[in-house]
Amino acid sequence: MFPTTRPRRLRRTPAIRRLVAETSLAARQLVLPVFVREGAAEPTPITSMPGLVQHTRDSLRKTVAEAAELGLGGVMLFGVPLTKDPRGTGAVDPDGILNVAIRDCVAEVGDALPVMADLCLDEFTDHGHCGVLTTGGAVDNDATLEIYAEMARVQAASGVDLVGPSGMMDGQVGVVRAALDAAGHTDVAVLAYSAKYASAFYGPFREAVSSSLQGDRRSYQQDGGNVVEGVREALLDVEEGADIVMVKPALAYLDVVRAVREAVDVPVAAYNISGEYAMIEAAAAHGWIDRDAAILETLTSIRRAGADIVLTYWAAEVAARLV
Ligand code: PBG
Repeated sequence: MFPTTRPRRLRRTPAIRRLVAETSLAARQLVLPVFVREGAAEPTPITSMPGLVQHTRDSLRKTVAEAAELGLGGVMLFGVPLTKDPRGTGAVDPDGILNVAIRDCVAEVGDALPVMADLCLDEFTDHGHCGVLTTGGAVDNDATLEIYAEMARVQAASGVDLVGPSGMMDGQVGVVRAALDAAGHTDVAVLAYSAKYASAFYGPFREAVSSSLQGDRRSYQQDGGNVVEGVREALLDVEEGADIVMVKPALAYLDVVRAVREAVDVPVAAYNISGEYAMIEAAAAHGWIDRDAAILETLTSIRRAGADIVLTYWAAEVAARLV
């Protein structure tokens, strides 16, 4: 007996496989996260993220110009300040590194590439938490919101296209949206880190931003087992005015990406984070894995799960490979 149905017919040649491919990967869907370090004379390699650096202002400008050239979806900026304090004041200083970097990038690429910025305090606080602390040492939700509002105003005045509130404070999207609108920045969009899980895979990022965090973020980031809660966070953010919602990390949370995609009517992003990058780079460095194939398979899986947009440290490299 011969099989009457033969799915393999559509797998015979690369051209036929391309014809029936269900999932696409394009430069415009990829956003490159970048780190810029205050006062740096030379780019500083990030040991746990081989191939990546903390940029100087100059090397950042070059990188974003290339990102625009490649047709990437955007860049997401993270600032590494020289000094940190309990309130993270560097974050609201118009001359603080992140705000200066926003101005540099916008001067470089104008409207050709969306410039996004992390809106969170952890890079700026000496205790490394995403918000300010009460006298008892807890992260103070509402006091933090006031600072986020100011950060949003300063980033918008610096020319940012999208702000990315990532601190998981309750009400952060609503407060940021209201602050932007009240200051006349109605055109600045909000990419909300909506379903953000307390994850071991952020490890290398902490080196990337020279974080001083002791302890963990479990009182504000989500528990890894919760998917209904992730959808609820995304729905709340849409209600509060999020233009794009994001799930983070990506790989260990692909089911959350799918659930959120089905629940909301705005674009969904997913963040292929530092530990996901480091795992593949480390295995590839040992010769244990085909690096380029593993990267494409990873990004395809995140798109297949339902992410319209993927933040990935491989954005530029993959975009260059796609053309
Ligand atoms: C918070 C923030 C973090 C990341 C992006 N924004 C760190 C955290 O929540 O602990 C992690 C990104 C990555 O690991 O690649 N400002």
